[in-house]
Amino acid sequence: MKEIQIKDKRFRTFIPEADILREVHRVASEISRDLEGENPLFVSVLNGSFMFTADLMKCLDIPCEVSFVKLASYAGTSSTGKVKELVGLNEDISGRTVVIVEDIVDTGLTMKRLIETLKGRGPKDIRVATLLVKPDKLEVELNLDYVAMKIPNDFIVGYGLDYDGLGRNYRDIYTVID
Ligand code: IMP
Repeated sequence: MKEIQIKDKRFRTFIPEADILREVHRVASEISRDLEGENPLFVSVLNGSFMFTADLMKCLDIPCEVSFVKLASYAGTSSTGKVKELVGLNEDISGRTVVIVEDIVDTGLTMKRLIETLKGRGPKDIRVATLLVKPDKLEVELNLDYVAMKIPNDFIVGYGLDYDGLGRNYRDIYTVID
């Protein structure tokens, strides 16, 4: 087990890369099976989901497209509840099957707001693929179609996820010690 220090916090290995990739493969198989013939548009939510998106896309074997959007609702280790606007989606999604690709669903407020925003643009279907979910933190009802892993409430970093901008580069996921 490895320990890392980021600013004032220590973290230890929690989910090794091999376990992450196994679950990403599983989710990709489910998506390939469900959305064959749909030419889905994957909408990847930056910054946190860049690694998940890359690995997920590499495992898909159906015709599909990917686009990257930005929004932010997080400062430090606790959700602020504030949600910024969606930026960067230039594609016309009307009549299309859209798959939102997110790093982690915590309270679920970000995802709920994003789904509502995208619904306003007339897609045929919106699905959600999230790397992680903290089920005990969910504050809103959400239909999460594809979930790679469920985790406890603790703060994590790595595999795209950050603590104050740092830690996204680690290939494993780490959980906070103190
Ligand atoms: P929500 O709106 O509370 O669901 O927050 C979702 C966003 O919070 C995610 O997209 C992440 O950017 C961030 N987030 C939530 N939990 C963590 C964590 O444990 N580590 C790093 N970022 C997190």
